[in-house]
Formats: sequence, structure tokens, C-alpha cells
Amino acid sequence: MREDAQDAASRVDEARLWQRHMEMAEIGAIPGNGVNRAAFSKEDIAARKRLIGWARARGYAIATDAIGNLFIRRAGSDPNAPPVMTGSHMDSQPRGGRFDGIYGVLAGLEALEAMDAAGVCTRRPVELVAWSNEEGGRFPPCTMGSAVYTGARAVSDFESVIDNEGVRLGNALKETLEAFPDLERRALNAPAAGYIEAHIEQGPLLEREGKTIGVVTGIQGLRWFNVEILGESGHAGTTPVSTRRDALREAITAINALHELTRDASDTVRFTIGRVLVTPNSPNTIPSHVLFSVDLRHPDPATIARLGNAVEPTIRRAVQTCAIKVTPTLHDDPCAFDPAVIASIEHAAQALALPYRRMPSGASHDAMYMARVCPTGMIFVPCEKGVSHNEAENARPEDLAAGARVLAAALVELANR
Ligand code: GLV
Ligand code: MN
Ligand code: MN
Repeated sequence: MREDAQDAASRVDEARLWQRHMEMAEIGAIPGNGVNRAAFSKEDIAARKRLIGWARARGYAIATDAIGNLFIRRAGSDPNAPPVMTGSHMDSQPRGGRFDGIYGVLAGLEALEAMDAAGVCTRRPVELVAWSNEEGGRFPPCTMGSAVYTGARAVSDFESVIDNEGVRLGNALKETLEAFPDLERRALNAPAAGYIEAHIEQGPLLEREGKTIGVVTGIQGLRWFNVEILGESGHAGTTPVSTRRDALREAITAINALHELTRDASDTVRFTIGRVLVTPNSPNTIPSHVLFSVDLRHPDPATIARLGNAVEPTIRRAVQTCAIKVTPTLHDDPCAFDPAVIASIEHAAQALALPYRRMPSGASHDAMYMARVCPTGMIFVPCEKGVSHNEAENARPEDLAAGARVLAAALVELANR
């Protein structure tokens, strides 16, 4: 490993990195040690302000774009060279933990500051990005900021998405951007020379095997759908069951059929219905409308294509009395990361004498979209018992710092290519 990469890694400050996690966890704190920091909420704005404050104190250049992605740039010696990027997200699940996403942002900031402390000058700029709305918990779908940044989707595709309270994404995004009137607004789709995202594993393998670093090889495929079941409301006491068009009853039948469709003896298919909205949601009125989400994942392109294509026909066969509307909201094929970036991360782990393993990611990340436009890789660190999307999510300061060291070293390597 280059000497300056080693130097940068050695200047990662474990205590500062941990302290920043705790300070970010104050924003949107919920009982049980968790956080609720929905995309484009006042908590999201507060987190952006805190991050910008830390970046300004270092003199980094700060910018945003049309979907609210936030960019923090440490200059390189060649100002015309496209940057090497790193980052993750600051939004959380409604009952999320203190590390999902925010770790990659704070580890990225720590890597930039470690380069400062080591007096490292890279040829390319190194740019930290905090992607907007990675979780999609408030405004589906997930990984929205990187999808727009890389040109896979347009902001206009998402402006009319509404949250559970009926707020339009377009309005919440406008409020978020208006909270930062002084930030430079930059174009979408700027070229990047590479991207490395650090993240907690969100699964149990690293902890179980006593490994500190996961060198991520790719991400499994993911398809999301919104399913609407359209029935008719009526009085619970008077309407004969034989004449009802009960949207919830039909939704349950459809959901059971989907569970049958995705039954898998090898336990590789991931199928989740995590969001159900019932209208009018009153104990004594027959539900007229049900919306539920489908989250389907698999590492094999042919399997996810087959299962995803069967979602709508399966629901159509199951539902007898109601109309249905099935809207695909996300279709990400499995992705493989760049062999050279994977090798850089692996070399950094070896040079820092950290136990590591290669592994695929079951969770989705913004790295999936970045992999379409530049050489990309990811670094995982262990989290306690693999628990994530849960208030109890936990990680050890020393593991977070180890991941930031690998990140700093790999970024310095890539930024000098
Ligand atoms: C990201 O949070 C995902 O759903 O994988
Ligand atoms: Mn995440
Ligand atoms: Mn998440």
C-alpha cells in the first residue's frame, strides 16, 4: 500500500467517529436507542445542518443538487480530474438504528479529515456524498438520490409520491432545498472516477466469523411494487357478507398467494410486505381500498425476473370480487462490483492486518446505482447479531474505526490513479 494511504488510515480518530454517531443519533432519537429520521423531514434537515457544520469547519466545498444529495469535496491537485466519491445516507427507517447509512457518511467525513491530518494531497478530489432518501420508508422507492444522480430516474418521476400523511415528495423536497439557500446547486450526473461506500453489514456473518471487514462483491436484485385492491365500503353490521367487496379480505388472500409463489426451500428468496394502508380504516366500515408494498429480492437475475413477472398474475388469480392495480416502483437487477475496487479494498484490509472476507450484500445501497456509472465497491463492518432496520441496531467503535481506516486507504489509492 502507498505510504500516504497508510498515513491517512493511521489518522482515523475512533473517538471522534463514535462521538459523531452519538451526536447524529440525537436527531430524531426514539425510545430504545433508535432514530426516526425520514427523508426530507425536519430531522433530515437538522442532520444536513450538522454535517455541513462539520464540513465547513474544515473548509471543504459543499454543494447540493435537484434531489437534495449533499456533496462535500476535499480538493485534489488536479481540479479538472473527476473525483473519487464515498458516502451513504442520513435518512433512516421509521424505527431505525443509529448506524444504517449514517456510518458511511461519517466514515467518509472521517476519511477526509484523516487525509488532512496526515497532510495527504491526492491527485483527484475526494468527495463525500450524503444521498437523499435511500430508505424509501416515507417516500418509496428506496435509493432515490443515487437513481436520480446517475440518470436512471428523473426527479419528476417521484414528485407526486405521497407519504402516509398525504405530503407530496415534491413539496417536502422543496422545503429541504429551501432550508439551504446558500449552497451551490450542481448538475446531476457529474462524472466520478470511482465510488466506495462503507456500511454496517446488517447481517450476522462478520460477527459470527470474527471478521472485521467485509469486502463486498455485489448486491442482489430487488423489485418493488405497489399493489392496490379496490373494493367498496359499506356498513359492517348490515351488509351481507355474500355481497361484499371487501378490499382487506381480498388483500389477505392476495398476500397469502404471493407467499406461496415465493416459497423457497433454500431460503434464498427474500419476500416482504412491510407497508399496508387500509381505507377508511374504521372498525365498523368494510375496507374499500388497500394499498400494500411488495419487496422481492434474489441474487440470480433469472429467478428475480421470473418471480417479479409473476406478481401481478398471481394477485389477479387470487382476487375475486375487487379490482386490482399493480404498479412496479423499482427494478434493480443484481449488480457486481468492479474487480479493481474490490482488490483495492482487500489490499487495504490486508495492509492494515484486519481480518476480512469477501461477501455479497443482501441489502440494497446507493452503490448499486453508482456501479452503473463508475468503478464501485463497498466495505462492510460487523453489527451486533446482524440486527438492522430495528432500534436495537448496534456496532462497536473499534469496528467502525477499522472500516474508516480501510476506506481512507482505499480512497487515497483510487484518488491517485
Ligand atoms: C435498504 O435499506 C434496503 O432496503 O436494502
Ligand atoms: Mn443503509
Ligand atoms: Mn436501511
